[in-house]
Parts: sequence; structure tokens; C-alpha cells
Amino acid sequence: MKNILVIGGTGFLGSAIVRELARRPASADSCFTLPTRREAGARHLTVLPTARVVEADVHDPATLARLVKGQDAVISLVGILKGGEGEPYGAGFARAHVELPQKIAVAAKAAGVRRLLHVSALRAATDAPSGYLRSKAAGEEALQAAGLDLTIFRPSVIFGRGDSFLTLFAKMAKIAPFFPLAGADARFQPIWVEDVAAVVADSLENSQSIGMAYDLCGPKQYALAELVRYATAASGHPRAVFGIPEFVGWLQAWAMEFIPNGPMTRDNIRSMRVPSVCDAGCGLPFGRPATALENIAPTYLGDG
Ligand SMILES: NC(=O)c1ccc[n+]([C@@H]2O[C@H](COP(=O)([O-])OP(=O)(O)OC[C@H]3O[C@@H](n4cnc5c(N)ncnc54)[C@H](OP(=O)(O)O)[C@@H]3O)[C@@H](O)[C@H]2O)c1
Repeated sequence: MKNILVIGGTGFLGSAIVRELARRPASADSCFTLPTRREAGARHLTVLPTARVVEADVHDPATLARLVKGQDAVISLVGILKGGEGEPYGAGFARAHVELPQKIAVAAKAAGVRRLLHVSALRAATDAPSGYLRSKAAGEEALQAAGLDLTIFRPSVIFGRGDSFLTLFAKMAKIAPFFPLAGADARFQPIWVEDVAAVVADSLENSQSIGMAYDLCGPKQYALAELVRYATAASGHPRAVFGIPEFVGWLQAWAMEFIPNGPMTRDNIRSMRVPSVCDAGCGLPFGRPATALENIAPTYLGDG
């Protein structure tokens, strides 16, 4: 594949995917176009000689049509955790998770670009308890209906240097003497960002992945409280972690919605009601082994 448009490619996972593709012989000379809302936030990618960061509004159909033209594949990665409240999902989720994939499908079809890789989320479902998961499912449906050469990826929570999950708790441990936690028993099966990137890159090289949807999990399941305890210890600030009653967590999350970049929303709490774990254990596609969190997290959680 010569030309690859990576929408959402400037983020945590997108950057790992672009770096992974750029070092593979099959796509080493590919040209990656990475639209962003703010070029300054994507400087870390400009060191890649084959990556072209462009400031663009991907929600604008005309801009999207220009970006898609001449591409051999599109990787769709835009995702948000805070999309507001509403039925069937908040307006932010509708725009980023449903309308944008719809627009991408329209632009790709019009430009004759058939290959599309899309990152959704584990347990995305139209009847899921959270707007995040319902909107992710609606985005998948929109792309499936478009009749393109589609591969969908549904990761559990992703960890790795630059993550906003374990790193958040490691940073908070510096100032918080203890952690009263909503959803302390929520289940996760975290997967390393480099493993997700490798699976996406494998799929791009493997036409058997067309029509597939891959649930992606790491080797082990944890309760949220275990992960927070682990992250605080690995950061050098071990902290006591305890669960709080659901209604208290609900009020806490509601209050945090008023803080810019607050760590939790009511919708996040609803998402955690569904175990973010894989039915079929931890096998990754293409026979890839999944990397243990304990082998990676200590290498970056002590940094800050
Ligand atoms: N991280 C996880 O644990 C996890 C787990 C499961 C699924 N996922 C899914 O994986 C995908 C990538 O996640 P990530 O962790 O890499 O996210 P991220 O670091 O927050 O990156 C998000 C990307 O989307 C772009 N973006 C965000 N909001 C946008 C908007 N309103 N309009 C246009 N572009 C927007 C950002 O671009 P600019 O800021 O440069 O404009 C950035 O490139 C998402 O779809 C997410 O739902 C992530």
C-alpha cells in the first residue's frame, strides 16, 4: 500500500500504528497522511520522513474527500471518552463515533478507496449501557453497511507509554493519599499498544482480515482496583485503593464532568458495567502472543 490516510493517527494508538507501519518493509516507503485539528500537537510524528501531518477538519465532507483522494487505504481511529449525555448517545459521541465513520465511508466510496480499517471498542453494542459503547456500535454498523473491504478492531483498554489510563493513576498517586474508586470491581483485560499496532499492521498486509472484526485483549484479566493499586505501586507511590458505593461514584463522576479534562464521567461508569474482557481468552490474530502488562508498565509508570 503506497498511500495511507490515518484519521485519528496523531493520538496514542494512531502514532503507534504509524510507527509500526513505517518500520515494516511492506509499507516502509508508504506515505502516511495524518490529519489533525492542531498541528502543534502532532510534532512527535513529523520526525517520520514518510508521515505528513496536515491540519484539517475531517468532519467537513469536502475536506475529507480531498484527503481520501489517491489513498490506497484508510485507517479510522477517531474516538472520544466524553461525548455528553443523551439518547441513544450524546452529541459528541454521535459526531465522532457515528457521523464521522459515515462520512469516511461516503468519501472512500466516492474516491474508489476500498480498504478501510476501523478501531472500535470491546463490547460495543447497540444495547450497551453507555453512550460510548452504543455509539461505537452504530459507527461499526454504518461502516459495515457501506460494503467496503473493512476490518474492525475492538480493543479492551490499551496500555503503554503515553496511555491515559495507568499513567493517570500513577500521576494522581503523587498527590492523592488514597483512592476512593467508582467501579472498583469492573473487569478489564488490558492490551499493550504495540500489540494492537502490530495486529492492525498485520491486517493491512493480510487480505484474509477483510470482513473480520477482532476483539483484542491482553493475557490477563484484572479488576479496576487491582490495576490502580498496581499503577500506584509501579510509579513508586503505592496507595490504598477502595471501592465506593455506586451512587457516590455517580455523584463523583457527575461533579467531575464540570472540571475541564476531569478524569471520569457518568457515561464512563456506565461503560464499566460491562466487563471489558475477551470471551475467547487472550489469543491475538495472526498467531501473535499478547504481551504481559507487568513486562511493560514498570518501564514507563515511574517516569513522571
Ligand atoms: N486508548 C484506549 O484504551 C482505547 C481502548 C479501546 C478503544 N480505543 C479506541 O481507539 C481509538 C484511538 O484511541 P486513542 O487512545 O489513540 O485516542 P487519542 O490518543 O485520544 O487520539 C484520538 C485521535 O482522534 C483525534 N480526535 C479526537 N477527537 C476528535 C474530534 N472530535 N474530531 C476529529 N478528530 C478527533 C485526535 O486528533 P487531534 O487531537 O490530533 O486532532 C487523535 O488523533 C479510538 O477510537 C478509541 O475509542 C482506545
